[in-house]
Formats: sequence, C-alpha cells, structure tokens
Amino acid sequence: MSTTPRRVEHQQTDRGYVPIYTTATVEQPWADYTRTEHEVWSTLFRRQREVLKGRACNEFIENQERFGMSPDAIPKFQDLNKVLKAGTDWEIVGVEGLLPDEIFFDHLANRRFPVTWWIRKPEQLDYLSEPDLFHDLFGHVPMLLNPVFADYVQAYGRGGVKAHKLGPDALMKLTRLYWYTVEFGLINTPEGVRIYGSGIVSSKGESIYCLESDSPNRIGFDLERIMRTKYKIDTYQQTYFVIDGFQQLMDATQPDFTPIYARLKEQPEFAAGSVQDGDRVIHRGTGEGWVKSEET
Ligand SMILES: [Fe+2]
Repeated sequence: MSTTPRRVEHQQTDRGYVPIYTTATVEQPWADYTRTEHEVWSTLFRRQREVLKGRACNEFIENQERFGMSPDAIPKFQDLNKVLKAGTDWEIVGVEGLLPDEIFFDHLANRRFPVTWWIRKPEQLDYLSEPDLFHDLFGHVPMLLNPVFADYVQAYGRGGVKAHKLGPDALMKLTRLYWYTVEFGLINTPEGVRIYGSGIVSSKGESIYCLESDSPNRIGFDLERIMRTKYKIDTYQQTYFVIDGFQQLMDATQPDFTPIYARLKEQPEFAAGSVQDGDRVIHRGTGEGWVKSEET
C-alpha cells in the first residue's frame, strides 16, 4: 500500500499495551488499496458470511445486506455513509487505529463511528491483536443500522465521557460493558442464541466456539454483574452474556451510572470464567482448555 498507518506511541490501556495512532480522522484512501488488500476483504467476507449462517442474529446479516457490503471489493465509506445517515443518522469516520478513550467516546456520543482504514495482511487472516478495517467495517458497522442498538452505542459514548472524568475505576467498569455487549455479546432469539458482538462476528474460530463449545459460560445479561467481571484480552472469552433483546441494553443504560460505580467499588470483582450465585445460567462452562492468560 502506498500509505501506512502512523503509529505515534505505544500506551498501556485496558486492552493491553497497544499502539496509539494519530487521533485525527482521515479520508479513506480507497484508490490506494491494492489488489491483495481487496482480496483479503473478499476472502474474509466470504468465509465469515458462511460461518455466520445460523449463528449471527438476523439483524446483523440483514443490515449488512442493506449496506450492500459484498465480497467484490472493500466498501467505500462514502457509500456506506449514505445508507447509515439515512438509516440512523450515524456516520463512519476513517481513523488510523485505536483511539485514546476520550476521543473515542466523543465520536460515539456524536454518532460517529471510527473505522480503521487499513486492512490486515494475508498472513493475518485468523488473528490480529488490534482492530483493522475488517473488524470495524464488517463487524461493527452493520449493527449501527439497528435504531435501538445505534442509540445504545451513543448512550455508551456519553457514559464514557462521564466515566472518563470520574476516573480509571469507573472507566474500567464501563469498558467491561462495551466488551461484553458490543464486542462479545450474544442474544436470545426465537431460533436460539445468536451472535451480535463485533469481536465474535469478525473471528471465524470464536463464532463457532462462543455458541457450540461446552467450555465457556453463557449467562443472562446483568449490568452490575458485567461491570464486576474481568475479561480476556488474548484468548476466546470464558463467559458470554446473553441479552433478550436490544431494548434491554438501552434500558440498562438509562440510569446514571455514578452511584453504581460508587457502590461497586466496595464489591469484589469476578474472574472472567467464574459463575456467581444469582447468575441466570444458560450454560455452565466446563472450563476445558482454559489457559491462564491476561485478564483485565
Ligand atoms: Fe471492536
């Protein structure tokens, strides 16, 4: 590619030691994508759409189709934005990569979703430690056409602006909510449990594991339980939280979290794979194959 992402520095964050990029939004350099980069998109798109049949929730697949995303070429942000603006008044903005929390929250609070413009290399099809265009575009953007989910992500952004002012403890609790819903969320549907989380839909292995493996817990959504639960940053999740509908997310984010953060500060935190009294257990994980790895 003729342009390369501009990494500014590395920084310790709640997602580990990650590169921080220039924080400005950038034009998608669509004309500069190489044939290989379009092929990476195409390969991943076809593969995931096959894996997600009967696994992703209908909203995800239907919205992806409304956008006209196809394996033919990397989509143009400006084309997607026409659909997104008209649908839920959100827009995609191009970025170099992960953003500092306060800038990320500000985008979400203003209905702008930052999408990394560059795509992984052919040898990174199965795993990449940071979000790229495939994760952001294929994984996140479709759900932003769902009006309730779109409002939830904005509410999360507003909550983030607030939590950032309250300090690292509040921020960590809020980040766990994003992690266990937007990134790794499952939803109960009349056809069975389905995926809506972006971190899952953009991963072939985890799309199968999260639903079909006996190893992880699958537990009913509970806001405070999630805020107390650590998560895995370098392996598949040990626990997935299952919502009954997108409205449940919206309802859970209506109250002011400030007193919740204060109360939870006095409470112990839960290991990623633990099951607690009071959990609405849909599946109790066997824990098979769990390796001790970093959690946050
Ligand atoms: Fe993501």
